[in-house]
Amino acid sequence: MLGIETSCDETGVALLRWYPEAPGEGLLSHALYSQIKLHAEYGGVVPELASRDHVRKLLPLVREALAQAGLTPADLGGVAYTAGPGLVGALLVGASAARAMAWALGVPAIGVHHMEGHLLAPLLEEDPPEPPFVALLVSGGHSMLVEVKGIGEYRILGDTLDDAAGEAFDKTAKLMGLPYPGGPALAKLAEQGRPGAFRFSRPMTDRPGLDFSFSGLKTQVLLAWQQSDQSEQTRADIARAFEEAIVDTMIIKCRRALQAAGAKRLVIAGGVGANKRLRAELAAAGEKDGFKAYFPRLAFCTDNGAMIALAGAIRLAHGQHQDESVQVFPRWDL
Ligand code: KG4
Ligand code: ZN
Repeated sequence: MLGIETSCDETGVALLRWYPEAPGEGLLSHALYSQIKLHAEYGGVVPELASRDHVRKLLPLVREALAQAGLTPADLGGVAYTAGPGLVGALLVGASAARAMAWALGVPAIGVHHMEGHLLAPLLEEDPPEPPFVALLVSGGHSMLVEVKGIGEYRILGDTLDDAAGEAFDKTAKLMGLPYPGGPALAKLAEQGRPGAFRFSRPMTDRPGLDFSFSGLKTQVLLAWQQSDQSEQTRADIARAFEEAIVDTMIIKCRRALQAAGAKRLVIAGGVGANKRLRAELAAAGEKDGFKAYFPRLAFCTDNGAMIALAGAIRLAHGQHQDESVQVFPRWDL
């Protein structure tokens, strides 16, 4: 299975041989090109530039992944691509290329939901989680808690009411003057922050429910930052307090979700899953409460082709693929 990811600002390609019992062992190669430098001077992703760069990079990456795996296009049994949600132009680049390749090779093409890709990414690791489990999906566009009863059997337990977790990281970083993309920069800065110098609230944890709301937190940071001396140390202190608030909030909701679903396994996926504090504290909470936390490796937390190849392989193994029309879904519920 060739997997193609072009929903936002990373071009990701991977090749996967399908081993249902140990999907990670079937990963033959993966290649990624990040457009971060291209968008940095604009302070965010410029959709038209993203599409054009996917056009430039996609086929060279496919060739690179094939060469790494020692395969030729004739070896492919299917092509999976992200069909949504994401930027429409960027999605269309991947969808058109994938459909054209599949058509030329006479193999099925499978349009994958980007968040299903994230959700299944931990299956690429050793000791993959068995459903049922609860998944915390936290990326630039989503903050969701999902009950996974089986592959394709998803129930949304909680969603974001405003900013997604990654978006909150990015916007908060921006308002304190950090360069795009802010999330990882803010997390790095937080390592230098002193504990207890600032404290922000844990939004929506004082009432029942599993939804998230992070935009108020951003406002709290803005006020604290504007009223401060705006020194480097203060910026790090605020970053730390912000990260603690957001991580604490996610842990409280994860515990509740595991209880509500009666599950003992928690999967964390999406770009914010790369956050070190989140990973450490969830693992610790798991030891205390008796649940096991599963994370993808860092490179498969953020967007990548491997998770799309995997989701496509699973769907194809269940007999699912689509007709030949090139269709993408910029907004698409899981
Ligand atoms: O999954 P992803 O690569 O793209 C989307 O599907 O959105 O997630 C990107 C998001 C960005 O908002 C980025 O700031 C955030 O993940 N992110 C992080 C970290 N690494 C990436 N947020 C907090 N801590 C990190 N270490
Ligand atoms: Zn993503």
